[in-house]
Amino acid sequence: MRITKILAVAGFMALAFLPIENAHTIDTTQYWMKIRAKDKYERTLIANSGVSIETTREDFVVGIGSLEEKKSMEKLGLLEVSFPLTEEMDFPTKDAAFHNYTEMTDKLRSLTSQYPTISQLSSIGKSVEGRDIWAVRISGNLQQADSLAAAVFMGGHHAREHLSIELPIYYIEYLLTEYGKGNPRVQRLVNSRDIHIIPMVNPDGAEYDISTGSYKSWRKNRTSNNNGTYGVDLNRNYGFGWGGGGASTSPNSETYRGPKAFSEPESIAIKNFVETHQNITILLSFHTYSQLILYPWGHVYESIANTRDKQVHEVMAKKMAEWNGYKPQQSSELYIASGDTTDWSYGEHKIISFTFELDPGNSGWGSGGFYPGAQVIPEVQRKNLEPVLYLIDHADNPYRVLDQSNGPIFKP
Ligand code: ARG
Ligand code: ZN
Repeated sequence: MRITKILAVAGFMALAFLPIENAHTIDTTQYWMKIRAKDKYERTLIANSGVSIETTREDFVVGIGSLEEKKSMEKLGLLEVSFPLTEEMDFPTKDAAFHNYTEMTDKLRSLTSQYPTISQLSSIGKSVEGRDIWAVRISGNLQQADSLAAAVFMGGHHAREHLSIELPIYYIEYLLTEYGKGNPRVQRLVNSRDIHIIPMVNPDGAEYDISTGSYKSWRKNRTSNNNGTYGVDLNRNYGFGWGGGGASTSPNSETYRGPKAFSEPESIAIKNFVETHQNITILLSFHTYSQLILYPWGHVYESIANTRDKQVHEVMAKKMAEWNGYKPQQSSELYIASGDTTDWSYGEHKIISFTFELDPGNSGWGSGGFYPGAQVIPEVQRKNLEPVLYLIDHADNPYRVLDQSNGPIFKP
């Protein structure tokens, strides 16, 4: 608690002649608040009320304050969202091995500062609530990485799919530490490639999901839909085939597609990122769960028209399935869904693109579903390592899988 606040509380107690033993009845809970504020005058009003403003955005701030302060924000009609910052503002103890946003950020900072010559941490944009969306770039030749073949891996589009964040974090750690240890295969891959890993595309959702100490089963981001509901399904918000089947027009729906394609800062960040890295030839987006390897299309039942592209996806998916045991199939075999990441990355950019639905399977680890428990993390990381290395390897020319004699065709 800040000193001014302690003094304020003490002063109030003195004035009210409160007996000392009542001190413990004062509610010291702090609240995380998203508060509407469109200019410096409104921000000053909020700051004057005692709320500590942590993040300032165009039309709101994120601040922390007491119950009283929260009430006064409510009275002013400025409070959009709030939740108490309790001790349990983290994963339940049994799942402590999962990384929350702060733990992930710290880990990415420390790894990239340990390996500064082959890795770089950068923010590719900010979430609705102002959190940085982190990307780690790994290459043995960072200066000329734009002219190397690039593969991109991402996780955490959906808030409750926490396992999908643990894999990208682990592969960053694996590549950097194995490189450091002199693992020849990793050194060869890292030296010849431009590798991008974005572990948590939807940090607001992931944090919201664990914000009370028990999981909320949240899926979407945390945008306000201005009708009392929150969230757009980021995997329905991409701009290729957006607005088609398997995505809702209703803001309260779990699969709300958003008011327009790329309406969300998180999907815009990925769009801008991909557009500014023309060397990307391969993309993998981790989701949970079902043990599937999916490839376009997802928005129609028809398969990819270009025969070679279709075959590359099929052959690669089948190969990767040998390692992780997942079922390879076209996305729309699962169900039609429009506006997902990989339909866009392939459809718009001709990037060879996959979605992995990680463990558990529908019968695998029993009823684990989105919350299979921390004990599954190492095994799922391990079984997906070969597929990840394989994708990095083939970024120079994914079409190699169709014809062994094909050399690298990669040109920046
Ligand atoms: N389960 C994921 C989701 O709902 C993957 C969707 C893959 N695309 C598809 N068209 N089925 O976003
Ligand atoms: Zn998902």
